Amino acid sequence: MMTSAPTRLPAWQALSDHQRVAAGFNLRELFEKDPGRFDKFSLRCGDLLLDYSKHLVTADTLRLLADLARQRKLQDWIARLFGGDKINATENRAVLHTALRADREVLLDGHNITADVEQTLAAMGRFCEGARSGKLTGFSRHAFTDIVSIGIGGSSLGPALAVEALAPYAASQFRVHFVSNVDGAHLATTLAPLNPETTLFIVASKTFTTLETLANAHAARDWLFAKAGDVKATARHFVAVTANAAAARDFGIGPESIFGFWDWVGGRFSLWSAIGLPVALAIGMDRFRELLAGARDMDEHFSTAPLERNMPVILGLLGIWYVNFFGVTSHAVLPYDQSLRLLPAYLQQLEMESNGKRVARDGSALDYATAPVIWGAAGTDAQHSFFQLLHQGTQLITADFIGCCNSHYTLNEHHIMLLANYFAQTEALMRGLTAGEAEAMMRAQGLADDRIGPLLPHRIFPGNRPSTSIMVRKLEPRTLGALIALYEHKVFVQSVIWDVNAFDQWGVELGKQLANRILPELTTSAPVSSHDASTNGLINHFKENR
Ligand code: F6P
Repeated sequence: MMTSAPTRLPAWQALSDHQRVAAGFNLRELFEKDPGRFDKFSLRCGDLLLDYSKHLVTADTLRLLADLARQRKLQDWIARLFGGDKINATENRAVLHTALRADREVLLDGHNITADVEQTLAAMGRFCEGARSGKLTGFSRHAFTDIVSIGIGGSSLGPALAVEALAPYAASQFRVHFVSNVDGAHLATTLAPLNPETTLFIVASKTFTTLETLANAHAARDWLFAKAGDVKATARHFVAVTANAAAARDFGIGPESIFGFWDWVGGRFSLWSAIGLPVALAIGMDRFRELLAGARDMDEHFSTAPLERNMPVILGLLGIWYVNFFGVTSHAVLPYDQSLRLLPAYLQQLEMESNGKRVARDGSALDYATAPVIWGAAGTDAQHSFFQLLHQGTQLITADFIGCCNSHYTLNEHHIMLLANYFAQTEALMRGLTAGEAEAMMRAQGLADDRIGPLLPHRIFPGNRPSTSIMVRKLEPRTLGALIALYEHKVFVQSVIWDVNAFDQWGVELGKQLANRILPELTTSAPVSSHDASTNGLINHFKENR
C-alpha cells in the first residue's frame, strides 16, 4: 500500500488550523455551555466506559481527527491487520495476535492457524489441570507450590500484570513469581525462600536467545541440581514457552513440556499465547479463556464500529491530537486500582517499543513526533508523589485514569475513598482553581490579607488539563482482556497515522550488541582502551573497585 506523509494530508492541515482555535478552548466553559458534553463524548463497549469529554475537543475536532484516520486509510489497515497481511514488513511477518483469541477460522498462507492455536490451548489446559490437581509433581513426587516464570519484556510484563490483576481468581495452592532482570538479586531473592522440590520453572522466551532469560534459566537449573542431584530433574521442573523449540530442547526441556507460539505473534502482544501460561496456571484455563474472550470483544468492536464510535480509534486519535498538535511529549497512565499497579510498565513496552520510531515504513526520516513517554503509577499513591507537577507544573501532560466500579475486596469504605479521589483528580485537572476561588478559600480559612497576597500565585491551579477516564465495571478476566486489547489497538491506530511499523523493535539491538562486546572485557583485570574515554573510564573504574 502506498503511503504518504500524514502531515501533507488535508485533514492534518485542517487540524493545524483548528488547533489555533483549540488552543483557546476552556474546558470549564465547554462544560458550562453544553450540559450534554459527557453524553456526546463518552462511549461504552461491554463493561468498559470511555469518557473523553474532559479533552480539549469539540465535535469539529473529532470530525477532523476522524477525517485524518480516513485519509490515512485506517479501515483498510485494520482489515489488513485482522486479515494476516505481512504488515510487519521489516521482519516480513503477519501480525496476528488477534488470531490467538479468535473464535473463527483465520487463514495465514492458506493454513488455518486457529486450529494450531486451539491445539496449544488444549495442551496448556492439560498441563494446568495436571499441575493444579497435583498429578504433575517434582522429582521427589511432591506437588508444586511455587511457579517461577523466567522471561523479560513481552515474555513477562503481560503475564505479571494479569496474574496480579486477577489475584482474586487465583488458586491458593500456587505462588507465582516473575524473574526478569539479569541482576542476580532478582533470581536470588526470589529463590531464597523456595523449596526446589516443589518449584516449577517456566522459561518464557520467544527467541530462547535472550541473555537475561538464559542466564536466569541456567542459574535456576543449577539451583535445582544442587538439591535434586540429577540432570533428569530438569524435565520434571522446567517447561518452556517459545517459538524456538530446538533451543529449549537443547536446554534439557522435553518436547511434551514445550509450548509453542509463532513468528506472527509479537513479544509485547503475546499474553494471549502460551506466554499466558503463568496466568492460566494461576486462574485456571476456563478463566484464561475468559481473558481471551474479553480481548475478542474488543477486537470485534475495533473491527466493526464506525471510526467516530470506536474506542481504540478515539483513544489513538486523542493521543495524536496532543502529541502532534499541542507538542505533548509525556503521557501518564494512572490506574486507580492497586491490582492494576503493573499496567503502566506493561503499557510502556507496548506503546514505546511499538511506536518509539523515527523513520516511516519506507525508511524515510520523520519530521513529526511519534510516541510520547509513557509513565505512571497507581493512585492514590501517585497523588502523593508526582501529581503536583500534573496540576501546577509547566508542561502539558495528558493522562488516562483507569478505575473500577466494583472492588473484589470487602473494605467497601476504602473503595469509595479510592473512587472519590479518582473522580476528584480529573475534575481538579480540568477545573483548576481561579485566583478568585483561591482567595475566597483562604479568606474562609481565616487568613489575613498580608498572607493572602503573597500566597495567592502559589494557590492558583491553571486547570484546563485534559484527561481520559476509563471505568471498568469490575476487574475480571473478561474485562481485563478487553482493557488490554483496547490499548493494543490504540497503539496500532497511532502507528497507522504516523506511518510507522509498530511491530519491529530494532532500537533494542545496539545496546545488546555492545553489551556482548563488553562482557568478555570484564572478565580480566587488564584495563581497557578500546572505547571512548567515558566508557573506558567507567569500565576501568569498575575493575579497580571490584
Ligand atoms: O529486547 C526487547 C525484546 O526483544 C522484546 O521485544 C521482547 O518482548 C523481549 O525482548 C523478550 O524477548 P524473548 O521473548 O525473545 O526472550
